[in-house]
Amino acid sequence: MKQLASRVSCISPSLSIAITSQAKQMKIDGRDVVNLGAGEPDFDTPEHIKNAGIYAIRSGLTKYTFTAGSQDIVQAVADKFRKDNGLKYAQNQIVVSSGAKHSIFNALLALVNPGDEVIVPVPYWVTYPELVKFLGATPVFVQGVRENKFKITGAQLAAAITPKTKALILNSPNNPSGAVYGENELKDIAAVVVKKDLYCIADEVYEKIIYNNARHISIASLGPEIFEQTVTVNGVSKSFAMTGWRIGYLGAPEPIAKAIAAIQSQTTHHPSTISMTASASALRNNATCITRMVEEFNKRRQFVLTNLNEIPGVISTDPDGAFYVFADVSAFYGKKAGARAIANSSDMAHYLLEEKLVAAIPGSAFGNDACIRVSYATSMENISKGMQRIKEGLTSLC
Ligand SMILES: Cc1ncc(COP(=O)(O)O)c(C=O)c1O
Repeated sequence: MKQLASRVSCISPSLSIAITSQAKQMKIDGRDVVNLGAGEPDFDTPEHIKNAGIYAIRSGLTKYTFTAGSQDIVQAVADKFRKDNGLKYAQNQIVVSSGAKHSIFNALLALVNPGDEVIVPVPYWVTYPELVKFLGATPVFVQGVRENKFKITGAQLAAAITPKTKALILNSPNNPSGAVYGENELKDIAAVVVKKDLYCIADEVYEKIIYNNARHISIASLGPEIFEQTVTVNGVSKSFAMTGWRIGYLGAPEPIAKAIAAIQSQTTHHPSTISMTASASALRNNATCITRMVEEFNKRRQFVLTNLNEIPGVISTDPDGAFYVFADVSAFYGKKAGARAIANSSDMAHYLLEEKLVAAIPGSAFGNDACIRVSYATSMENISKGMQRIKEGLTSLC
Protein backbone atom coordinates (compact mmCIF):
# COMPACT_ATOMS: atom_id res chain seq x y z
CA MET A 1 0.00 0.00 0.00
CA LYS A 2 1.27 3.51 -0.80
CA GLN A 3 2.06 5.81 2.10
CA LEU A 4 -0.49 8.20 3.56
CA ALA A 5 -0.11 11.91 2.83
CA SER A 6 2.82 13.38 4.76
CA ARG A 7 0.63 16.08 6.32
CA VAL A 8 -1.07 13.41 8.42
CA SER A 9 2.12 12.97 10.43
CA CYS A 10 1.97 16.67 11.44
CA ILE A 11 -1.23 16.25 13.40
CA SER A 12 -1.43 14.39 16.72
CA PRO A 13 -4.65 13.00 18.11
CA SER A 14 -6.02 15.05 21.00
CA LEU A 15 -4.49 14.06 24.37
CA SER A 16 -7.62 15.23 26.14
CA ILE A 17 -9.80 13.01 23.96
CA ALA A 18 -7.41 10.09 24.67
CA ILE A 19 -7.88 10.31 28.43
CA THR A 20 -11.65 10.85 28.24
CA SER A 21 -11.94 7.89 25.84
CA GLN A 22 -10.01 5.72 28.32
CA ALA A 23 -12.36 6.89 31.07
CA LYS A 24 -15.41 6.07 28.89
CA GLN A 25 -14.05 2.60 28.12
CA MET A 26 -13.43 1.94 31.83
CA LYS A 27 -17.05 2.96 32.52
CA ILE A 28 -18.28 0.59 29.81
CA ASP A 29 -16.17 -2.12 31.47
CA GLY A 30 -18.16 -1.55 34.65
CA ARG A 31 -15.71 0.64 36.63
CA ASP A 32 -17.21 3.47 38.71
CA VAL A 33 -15.25 6.26 36.99
CA VAL A 34 -15.97 9.94 37.70
CA ASN A 35 -15.27 12.01 34.63
CA LEU A 36 -13.87 15.47 35.41
CA GLY A 37 -12.34 15.64 31.95
CA ALA A 38 -15.35 16.74 29.94
CA GLY A 39 -15.17 19.79 27.70
CA GLU A 40 -18.91 20.18 27.26
CA PRO A 41 -21.80 21.37 29.42
CA ASP A 42 -23.66 18.49 31.06
CA PHE A 43 -26.98 20.36 30.68
CA ASP A 44 -29.49 19.38 28.04
CA THR A 45 -30.04 21.71 25.07
CA PRO A 46 -32.86 24.10 26.13
CA GLU A 47 -36.35 23.10 24.99
CA HIS A 48 -37.06 26.15 22.78
CA ILE A 49 -33.88 25.43 20.81
CA LYS A 50 -34.79 21.76 20.31
CA ASN A 51 -38.24 22.85 19.18
CA ALA A 52 -36.70 25.16 16.59
CA GLY A 53 -34.72 22.18 15.23
CA ILE A 54 -37.89 20.07 15.11
CA TYR A 55 -39.69 22.92 13.36
CA ALA A 56 -36.91 23.03 10.74
CA ILE A 57 -37.32 19.31 10.00
CA ARG A 58 -41.12 19.46 9.87
CA SER A 59 -41.30 22.59 7.73
CA GLY A 60 -38.84 21.41 5.10
CA LEU A 61 -35.85 23.56 6.07
CA THR A 62 -33.78 20.55 5.16
CA LYS A 63 -32.20 21.57 1.85
CA TYR A 64 -29.02 23.26 0.68
CA THR A 65 -28.78 26.93 1.53
CA PHE A 66 -26.15 29.70 1.20
CA THR A 67 -22.49 28.70 1.58
CA ALA A 68 -21.86 31.17 4.42
CA GLY A 69 -25.02 30.09 6.27
CA SER A 70 -28.78 30.52 5.91
CA GLN A 71 -30.08 34.10 5.85
CA ASP A 72 -31.81 33.47 9.16
CA ILE A 73 -28.68 32.56 11.12
CA VAL A 74 -26.43 35.09 9.41
CA GLN A 75 -28.86 37.82 10.47
CA ALA A 76 -29.03 36.38 14.02
CA VAL A 77 -25.22 36.33 14.21
CA ALA A 78 -24.94 39.91 12.89
CA ASP A 79 -27.47 41.06 15.52
CA LYS A 80 -25.67 39.13 18.26
CA PHE A 81 -22.27 40.60 17.40
CA ARG A 82 -23.74 44.11 17.40
CA LYS A 83 -25.75 43.72 20.60
CA ASP A 84 -23.36 41.66 22.75
CA ASN A 85 -19.96 42.67 21.41
CA GLY A 86 -20.30 46.11 19.81
CA LEU A 87 -19.12 44.62 16.50
CA LYS A 88 -20.74 45.84 13.30
CA TYR A 89 -20.27 42.95 10.90
CA ALA A 90 -22.29 43.19 7.68
CA GLN A 91 -23.92 39.99 6.44
CA ASN A 92 -21.13 39.44 3.90
CA GLN A 93 -18.60 39.50 6.74
CA ILE A 94 -20.10 36.48 8.51
CA VAL A 95 -19.52 32.77 7.84
CA VAL A 96 -21.32 30.01 9.77
CA SER A 97 -19.53 26.65 9.96
CA SER A 98 -19.74 23.23 11.59
CA GLY A 99 -18.53 24.28 15.04
CA ALA A 100 -16.07 26.92 16.26
CA LYS A 101 -13.29 24.40 15.69
CA HIS A 102 -14.22 24.39 12.01
CA SER A 103 -14.41 28.20 11.94
CA ILE A 104 -10.88 28.39 13.38
CA PHE A 105 -9.59 25.87 10.85
CA ASN A 106 -11.24 27.81 8.01
CA ALA A 107 -9.70 31.06 9.27
CA LEU A 108 -6.23 29.50 9.45
CA LEU A 109 -6.67 28.03 5.97
CA ALA A 110 -7.48 31.48 4.63
CA LEU A 111 -4.68 33.32 6.45
CA VAL A 112 -1.67 31.07 6.97
CA ASN A 113 0.93 29.84 4.47
CA PRO A 114 3.42 27.01 4.98
CA GLY A 115 6.48 28.48 6.72
CA ASP A 116 4.50 31.19 8.54
CA GLU A 117 4.60 31.47 12.32
CA VAL A 118 1.46 31.69 14.42
CA ILE A 119 1.69 32.88 18.01
CA VAL A 120 -0.13 30.68 20.50
CA PRO A 121 -0.28 31.79 24.15
CA VAL A 122 0.27 29.00 26.71
CA PRO A 123 -1.76 27.35 28.11
CA TYR A 124 -3.67 26.80 24.90
CA TRP A 125 -6.65 24.82 23.72
CA VAL A 126 -5.17 21.55 22.41
CA THR A 127 -6.36 22.08 18.84
CA TYR A 128 -4.53 25.33 17.95
CA PRO A 129 -0.96 24.03 17.57
CA GLU A 130 -2.14 20.93 15.71
CA LEU A 131 -4.07 22.96 13.12
CA VAL A 132 -1.16 25.34 12.65
CA LYS A 133 1.25 22.42 12.11
CA PHE A 134 -1.23 20.71 9.78
CA LEU A 135 -0.97 23.75 7.49
CA GLY A 136 2.83 23.54 7.43
CA ALA A 137 3.17 26.61 9.64
CA THR A 138 4.92 26.80 13.03
CA PRO A 139 3.21 27.49 16.35
CA VAL A 140 5.30 29.88 18.45
CA PHE A 141 4.45 29.56 22.12
CA VAL A 142 4.33 32.49 24.52
CA GLN A 143 4.11 31.52 28.18
CA GLY A 144 1.28 32.90 30.26
CA VAL A 145 2.39 32.77 33.89
CA ARG A 146 0.28 31.81 36.89
CA GLU A 147 1.11 35.12 38.62
CA ASN A 148 -0.75 36.85 35.76
CA LYS A 149 -3.57 34.29 35.75
CA PHE A 150 -1.90 32.64 32.72
CA LYS A 151 -2.46 35.69 30.50
CA ILE A 152 0.22 37.03 28.18
CA THR A 153 1.11 40.71 27.87
CA GLY A 154 1.55 42.96 24.86
CA ALA A 155 5.29 43.12 25.63
CA GLN A 156 5.56 39.31 25.60
CA LEU A 157 3.70 39.22 22.29
CA ALA A 158 6.00 41.86 20.79
CA ALA A 159 9.08 39.90 21.89
CA ALA A 160 7.88 36.75 20.08
CA ILE A 161 7.31 38.40 16.70
CA THR A 162 9.68 37.62 13.82
CA PRO A 163 9.46 38.52 10.12
CA LYS A 164 7.61 35.21 9.65
CA THR A 165 4.84 35.93 12.16
CA LYS A 166 1.44 35.98 10.49
CA ALA A 167 -1.13 35.70 13.24
CA LEU A 168 -1.97 35.45 16.93
CA ILE A 169 -4.63 33.09 18.30
CA LEU A 170 -6.16 34.71 21.37
CA ASN A 171 -8.60 32.74 23.50
CA SER A 172 -10.60 34.62 26.14
CA PRO A 173 -12.21 33.26 28.29
CA ASN A 174 -9.49 30.65 28.10
CA ASN A 175 -9.59 26.88 28.00
CA PRO A 176 -7.95 25.52 30.19
CA SER A 177 -7.05 28.39 32.57
CA GLY A 178 -10.38 30.25 32.69
CA ALA A 179 -8.45 33.52 32.22
CA VAL A 180 -10.43 36.49 30.93
CA TYR A 181 -8.45 39.35 29.41
CA GLY A 182 -9.41 42.83 30.66
CA GLU A 183 -9.78 45.91 28.50
CA ASN A 184 -6.30 47.35 29.11
CA GLU A 185 -4.64 43.97 28.56
CA LEU A 186 -6.49 43.63 25.26
CA LYS A 187 -5.59 47.20 24.26
CA ASP A 188 -1.89 46.42 24.79
CA ILE A 189 -2.17 43.27 22.69
CA ALA A 190 -4.22 45.01 19.99
CA ALA A 191 -1.63 47.80 19.73
CA VAL A 192 1.08 45.22 18.97
CA VAL A 193 -1.12 43.33 16.47
CA VAL A 194 -1.87 46.58 14.63
CA LYS A 195 1.69 47.94 14.75
CA LYS A 196 3.19 44.66 13.49
CA ASP A 197 0.45 44.09 10.92
CA LEU A 198 -0.59 40.65 12.21
CA TYR A 199 -3.93 38.92 12.04
CA CYS A 200 -5.69 38.05 15.29
CA ILE A 201 -7.97 35.04 15.50
CA ALA A 202 -10.04 35.74 18.61
CA ASP A 203 -11.68 32.57 19.96
CA GLU A 204 -14.56 33.74 22.16
CA VAL A 205 -16.58 30.51 22.53
CA TYR A 206 -16.71 30.75 26.34
CA GLU A 207 -17.86 34.38 26.20
CA LYS A 208 -21.06 33.80 28.17
CA ILE A 209 -19.59 31.55 30.86
CA ILE A 210 -18.05 34.15 33.08
CA TYR A 211 -17.78 34.86 36.86
CA ASN A 212 -16.38 37.23 39.49
CA ASN A 213 -17.94 40.25 37.72
CA ALA A 214 -15.48 39.76 34.87
CA ARG A 215 -16.54 41.36 31.58
CA HIS A 216 -15.97 39.76 28.21
CA ILE A 217 -14.58 42.20 25.66
CA SER A 218 -14.09 41.40 21.98
CA ILE A 219 -10.65 42.57 20.91
CA ALA A 220 -12.06 43.57 17.50
CA SER A 221 -14.31 46.13 19.23
CA LEU A 222 -11.33 48.18 20.44
CA GLY A 223 -10.94 50.28 17.29
CA PRO A 224 -11.24 50.31 13.50
CA GLU A 225 -7.66 49.14 12.90
CA ILE A 226 -7.82 46.03 15.10
CA PHE A 227 -11.30 45.30 13.66
CA GLU A 228 -9.73 45.13 10.17
CA GLN A 229 -7.12 42.60 11.37
CA THR A 230 -9.29 40.32 13.50
CA VAL A 231 -11.37 37.24 12.83
CA THR A 232 -13.84 36.90 15.72
CA VAL A 233 -14.87 33.28 16.30
CA ASN A 234 -17.75 32.13 18.45
CA GLY A 235 -20.28 29.29 18.56
CA VAL A 236 -23.28 27.81 20.29
CA SER A 237 -21.67 24.66 21.75
CA LYS A 238 -20.69 26.01 25.15
CA SER A 239 -23.19 28.85 25.73
CA PHE A 240 -26.27 26.82 24.84
CA ALA A 241 -25.23 23.23 25.64
CA MET A 242 -25.31 22.46 21.90
CA THR A 243 -22.00 20.65 21.35
CA GLY A 244 -23.53 17.97 19.12
CA TRP A 245 -25.39 20.41 16.88
CA ARG A 246 -22.05 21.57 15.44
CA ILE A 247 -22.55 25.25 14.76
CA GLY A 248 -19.80 27.86 15.02
CA TYR A 249 -19.50 31.22 13.31
CA LEU A 250 -17.06 34.01 12.61
CA GLY A 251 -17.02 37.67 11.69
CA ALA A 252 -14.15 39.02 9.61
CA PRO A 253 -13.25 41.80 7.19
CA GLU A 254 -14.91 41.15 3.84
CA PRO A 255 -11.92 39.78 1.86
CA ILE A 256 -11.21 37.23 4.62
CA ALA A 257 -14.89 36.24 5.00
CA LYS A 258 -15.15 35.88 1.21
CA ALA A 259 -12.07 33.61 1.10
CA ILE A 260 -13.44 31.50 3.95
CA ALA A 261 -16.84 31.19 2.25
CA ALA A 262 -15.05 30.04 -0.92
CA ILE A 263 -13.10 27.41 1.03
CA GLN A 264 -16.33 26.23 2.65
CA SER A 265 -18.17 26.15 -0.68
CA GLN A 266 -15.76 23.50 -1.94
CA THR A 267 -15.49 21.50 1.28
CA THR A 268 -18.57 21.19 3.50
CA HIS A 269 -20.75 23.60 1.46
CA HIS A 270 -22.40 24.78 4.68
CA PRO A 271 -23.34 23.30 8.07
CA SER A 272 -26.60 21.45 8.72
CA THR A 273 -29.61 23.61 7.86
CA ILE A 274 -31.53 22.11 10.77
CA SER A 275 -28.80 22.99 13.26
CA MET A 276 -28.58 26.50 11.83
CA THR A 277 -32.31 27.06 12.41
CA ALA A 278 -32.01 25.84 16.01
CA SER A 279 -28.90 27.98 16.58
CA ALA A 280 -30.56 31.11 15.19
CA SER A 281 -33.30 30.59 17.77
CA ALA A 282 -30.66 30.13 20.50
CA LEU A 283 -28.92 33.38 19.56
CA ARG A 284 -32.19 35.33 19.48
CA ASN A 285 -33.56 34.19 22.83
CA ASN A 286 -30.49 33.69 24.94
CA ALA A 287 -30.82 35.43 28.28
CA THR A 288 -32.61 33.08 30.70
CA CYS A 289 -31.13 29.73 29.79
CA ILE A 290 -27.57 31.06 29.93
CA THR A 291 -28.08 32.77 33.30
CA ARG A 292 -29.38 29.56 34.86
CA MET A 293 -26.48 27.51 33.53
CA VAL A 294 -23.84 30.02 34.62
CA GLU A 295 -25.30 30.24 38.14
CA GLU A 296 -24.98 26.48 38.47
CA PHE A 297 -21.43 26.47 37.02
CA ASN A 298 -20.45 29.18 39.49
CA LYS A 299 -21.56 27.08 42.50
CA ARG A 300 -19.56 24.14 41.21
CA ARG A 301 -16.54 26.35 40.48
CA GLN A 302 -16.47 27.56 44.07
CA PHE A 303 -16.86 24.01 45.39
CA VAL A 304 -13.96 22.72 43.27
CA LEU A 305 -11.73 25.64 44.25
CA THR A 306 -12.48 25.18 47.96
CA ASN A 307 -11.72 21.48 47.76
CA LEU A 308 -8.51 21.87 45.76
CA ASN A 309 -7.30 24.61 48.11
CA GLU A 310 -7.69 22.18 51.02
CA ILE A 311 -5.04 19.88 49.54
CA PRO A 312 -1.58 20.98 50.71
CA GLY A 313 0.68 21.40 47.69
CA VAL A 314 -2.03 22.11 45.11
CA ILE A 315 -2.06 25.65 43.73
CA SER A 316 -5.19 26.61 41.86
CA THR A 317 -5.94 29.88 40.13
CA ASP A 318 -9.45 31.29 40.50
CA PRO A 319 -10.89 31.08 36.97
CA ASP A 320 -12.94 34.05 35.74
CA GLY A 321 -14.52 32.09 32.89
CA ALA A 322 -15.19 28.73 31.16
CA PHE A 323 -15.79 25.57 33.28
CA TYR A 324 -12.36 24.35 34.28
CA VAL A 325 -9.85 24.78 37.09
CA PHE A 326 -6.23 24.52 35.97
CA ALA A 327 -4.51 23.29 39.10
CA ASP A 328 -0.75 23.13 39.65
CA VAL A 329 0.06 19.68 41.07
CA SER A 330 3.79 19.76 40.36
CA ALA A 331 4.57 19.61 44.10
CA PHE A 332 3.63 15.92 43.85
CA TYR A 333 6.00 15.11 40.99
CA GLY A 334 8.82 12.85 42.13
CA LYS A 335 6.47 11.02 44.52
CA LYS A 336 5.23 7.45 44.22
CA ALA A 337 2.11 5.35 44.67
CA GLY A 338 3.54 1.91 45.36
CA ALA A 339 5.69 1.08 42.34
CA ARG A 340 4.09 3.80 40.20
CA ALA A 341 6.24 6.92 39.93
CA ILE A 342 4.61 10.28 39.19
CA ALA A 343 6.99 12.40 37.15
CA ASN A 344 4.66 14.62 35.13
CA SER A 345 1.07 15.58 34.40
CA SER A 346 0.48 12.56 32.16
CA ASP A 347 1.61 10.17 34.94
CA MET A 348 -0.63 12.08 37.33
CA ALA A 349 -3.71 11.86 35.08
CA HIS A 350 -3.14 8.15 34.45
CA TYR A 351 -2.62 7.49 38.16
CA LEU A 352 -5.79 9.36 39.12
CA LEU A 353 -7.80 7.58 36.45
CA GLU A 354 -6.44 4.06 36.77
CA GLU A 355 -6.07 3.90 40.56
CA LYS A 356 -8.50 6.48 41.91
CA LEU A 357 -11.11 6.29 39.14
CA VAL A 358 -11.27 10.01 38.45
CA ALA A 359 -10.51 11.50 35.03
CA ALA A 360 -8.74 14.87 34.69
CA ILE A 361 -6.73 16.11 31.71
CA PRO A 362 -2.92 16.35 31.91
CA GLY A 363 -1.66 19.93 31.60
CA SER A 364 0.86 18.81 28.96
CA ALA A 365 -2.07 18.64 26.52
CA PHE A 366 -2.35 22.43 26.96
CA GLY A 367 1.40 23.15 27.00
CA ASN A 368 1.82 23.36 30.80
CA ASP A 369 3.05 20.16 32.42
CA ALA A 370 2.82 21.49 35.99
CA CYS A 371 -0.99 21.37 35.96
CA ILE A 372 -4.00 19.16 35.48
CA ARG A 373 -7.34 20.46 34.17
CA VAL A 374 -10.37 19.66 36.30
CA SER A 375 -13.70 20.22 34.56
CA TYR A 376 -16.81 21.07 36.56
CA ALA A 377 -19.17 20.51 33.65
CA THR A 378 -20.79 17.62 35.49
CA SER A 379 -23.22 17.15 38.38
CA MET A 380 -22.43 18.30 41.91
CA GLU A 381 -22.68 14.67 43.00
CA ASN A 382 -19.96 13.64 40.52
CA ILE A 383 -17.82 16.62 41.39
CA SER A 384 -18.08 15.88 45.08
CA LYS A 385 -17.07 12.24 44.56
CA GLY A 386 -14.30 13.26 42.15
CA MET A 387 -12.82 15.85 44.51
CA GLN A 388 -12.75 13.30 47.31
CA ARG A 389 -10.85 10.90 45.07
CA ILE A 390 -8.36 13.55 43.93
CA LYS A 391 -7.76 14.49 47.57
CA GLU A 392 -7.18 10.86 48.54
CA GLY A 393 -5.03 10.26 45.47
CA LEU A 394 -2.73 13.22 46.05
CA THR A 395 -2.40 12.96 49.81
CA SER A 396 -1.56 9.24 49.64
CA LEU A 397 1.46 9.84 47.37
CA CYS A 398 4.79 9.60 49.15
C1 LIG B 1 -11.30 27.20 23.37
C2 LIG B 1 -12.19 26.38 22.49
N1 LIG B 1 -12.46 26.81 21.24
C3 LIG B 1 -13.26 26.13 20.42
C4 LIG B 1 -13.83 24.94 20.82
C5 LIG B 1 -14.67 24.18 19.83
O1 LIG B 1 -16.02 24.41 19.95
P1 LIG B 1 -17.06 23.79 18.90
O2 LIG B 1 -17.77 22.70 19.62
O3 LIG B 1 -17.95 24.93 18.55
O4 LIG B 1 -16.29 23.31 17.72
C6 LIG B 1 -13.57 24.43 22.10
C7 LIG B 1 -14.15 23.13 22.51
O5 LIG B 1 -13.71 22.50 23.44
C8 LIG B 1 -12.75 25.18 22.96
O6 LIG B 1 -12.48 24.74 24.20
